[in-house]
Amino acid sequence: MVCLGNICRSPIADGLLRRKVVENNLDVEVDSAGTIALHAGSAPDKRMITTAKNRGTSISDLRARQFTVSDFDTFDLIFAMDSSNKSNILKLARNQADEQKVHLLLSEITNREEASVPDPYYGDMSDFEHVYDLVDEATEVLIEKIKSRKLD
Ligand code: 4NP
Repeated sequence: MVCLGNICRSPIADGLLRRKVVENNLDVEVDSAGTIALHAGSAPDKRMITTAKNRGTSISDLRARQFTVSDFDTFDLIFAMDSSNKSNILKLARNQADEQKVHLLLSEITNREEASVPDPYYGDMSDFEHVYDLVDEATEVLIEKIKSRKLD
């Protein structure tokens, strides 16, 4: 799960998918990263931690890191939160196989390639709630696809 800073959107995507993987007894490795290094080593934004906690998901142990080329080797699927994140990830792709791993998370629920999880960083708590709802729905679809092996 990849966003810009790895402190707002991708940590909640990471935390929700991680929780659902455990709840469904699935053998899936989940991680998150940001395309920039600015917040590397930091815990998620307090507003995202609080929003997640209020809904029963703990993300306070996560620490931000920057996306690296080696992530293309470690992971089968890479989900970008918005189209800008997606194009930044694609700039690091070494070949077509790398490129094919990169998807927009919301395309899981909208079928629209341009659909983006809006950046809540300069917003208020309602923006964080909205991010949570979108990511909760998308990760629900992802879990069902993993269970029925309908991912490519
Ligand atoms: P994120 O949100 O990409 O969802 O983690 C942001 C975090 C930090 C900044 C922008 C967006 N920033 O400009 O530092």
